[in-house]
Amino acid sequence: MRIVLLGPPGAGKGTQAKGISEYYNIPHISTGDLFRENISQGTKLGREAQAYMDRGELVPDSLVIAFVEDRVSKPDCKNGFLLDGFPRTIPQAEAFWTFCADRDEQLNDAVCLNVPDDLIIKRISGRRSCPKCGAVYNIYTNKPKVEGHCDYDGTALVQRSDDTEETVKTRLSVYEKETEPLIGFYKDKGILKEVDAAGPLEEVQRRIIDALK
Ligand code: AP5
Repeated sequence: MRIVLLGPPGAGKGTQAKGISEYYNIPHISTGDLFRENISQGTKLGREAQAYMDRGELVPDSLVIAFVEDRVSKPDCKNGFLLDGFPRTIPQAEAFWTFCADRDEQLNDAVCLNVPDDLIIKRISGRRSCPKCGAVYNIYTNKPKVEGHCDYDGTALVQRSDDTEETVKTRLSVYEKETEPLIGFYKDKGILKEVDAAGPLEEVQRRIIDALK
């Protein structure tokens, strides 16, 4: 299965991707997580990406496309992958479509998670994540067992630096302008699945898996 997961910031892409990638036994590849790892390791890519991410803007296509194409060429992607947060612009979608076609590895599905704006703001403002393992929680809806600490490794949870009110506004408007047009792109390709992602985690997971059958 080669799947793309679309949706606005805070729609639940990362949260749902974990369960779906386990269900299909394929790697979960999040461009946001990969950039954050590079930032914490102080790599050249991380330094280039950081300023864009802190402003809520997109990292330039030229950096992202080569990075993802390299990642999906690794042996663990032989049976497929789940992309979370990529593609995010029409040039990224076109380049990746051509890349897959050239390898005779067509994308199977593009799943778009639909969530109303007021719920997005609530989800993002309540999000906390583990800086060590990347696990994502929510102080309202998806609490850790011990307040403020990761269930897996006990690390103190943090709020993402791009989850400020101002940056979230920019990320939402960038999503509308740059990423929403991908819904039409994948509809035209005949692989779009739209899923109502407002609802309990397990219920949304079930809807996604049903849509992928
Ligand atoms: P990225 O990390 O991809 O951020 P995003 O798309 O803004 O998405 P989020 O991670 O904010 O949200 P999510 O949908 O994963 O929601 P989550 O599961 O955490 O990208 C960050 C930045 O990197 C970008 O701004 C850009 O600069 C750069 N970048 C990345 N990819 C790029 C690309 N391709 N091109 C250019 N630049 C790129 O859920 C949110 C919260 O809600 C959590 O607390 C969760 O517990 C809770 N929650 C989730 N689902 C539910 C539910 N059903 N019920 C209740 N609570 C829920």
